[in-house]
Amino acid sequence: MKRFQNQVAVITGAGSGIGKATAIQLADEGATVVLVGRTKEKLEAVAEIVSERSDNQHAYVYVADVTAEEEVELLAAYLKDNFEVVHVLINNAGTSSSGSILQLEEWDWEYVQKTNVTSVFLMAKHVGPLLADAKAENKAIVNIASLSGHKAGAKIPHYSTAKAAVIHLTKALAGELASNGVRVNSVSPGFIETPMTKESLENASFNQAIELHTLLKRIGRAEEVAKAVAFLASSDSSYVTGTDLLIDGGWLTV
Ligand code: NAI
Repeated sequence: MKRFQNQVAVITGAGSGIGKATAIQLADEGATVVLVGRTKEKLEAVAEIVSERSDNQHAYVYVADVTAEEEVELLAAYLKDNFEVVHVLINNAGTSSSGSILQLEEWDWEYVQKTNVTSVFLMAKHVGPLLADAKAENKAIVNIASLSGHKAGAKIPHYSTAKAAVIHLTKALAGELASNGVRVNSVSPGFIETPMTKESLENASFNQAIELHTLLKRIGRAEEVAKAVAFLASSDSSYVTGTDLLIDGGWLTV
């Protein structure tokens, strides 16, 4: 039996990078996946990959901006009407930009907080009850934090702050939902090759610096994050809640 057979998994920011890899991983393992994001075409392309990989798997596409409470409320209503319950929620949508504290505009600060943290709060508030009420053995939320949430990165003070908040929000949520049987954890990826890091990774000296500081001497792949997310989302981690798993190739170790 596949790990996510008969389970509904909702993934935000599922149109690219880590979200896309996670959706494919969970679907490969039997989940019915609901792909949430702002760009229909990107989500449909991922849905097509899912159905091409297995005749039995179908991915649902739902267009929403997860920073807009009314859109998240409509998403929760759609999930209740169509699936009744949700077993797995992956809060993956995120964004960043570059700038020092003295350079950043308030709107830039706010946009990064809203996309990375407020979205997790809104999804937990409105979609969380569909997990809490489900009569199922495995119920899990996995939030995508970051290495930057542990160690403030240069020129990303807003992003580092937001991701540190995601790690803390994860713990608060784990405490709130434990009595409903919902486990809540986060992962903190290091440098992963995705559309978000594409531009930086085109810079050879940036690549060299990462390789130098990473014990495993390379940049990570989205699929490697997806596998760790799947572990925390599955009943294989049934005694794990309120924790954060670093997936950074050993960056923080030395
Ligand atoms: P990505 O840019 O490919 O993925 C982010 C996705 O979120 C995109 O598809 C984007 O359209 C979506 N998104 C952004 N704002 C949204 C909104 N308001 N509503 C709905 N969807 C929205 O980049 P990546 O790298 O796959 O990022 C995924 C997560 O992983 C993010 O939370 C990011 O902060 C985190 N992360 C990435 C790392 C990396 O090195 N790539 C390292 C650590 C964390």
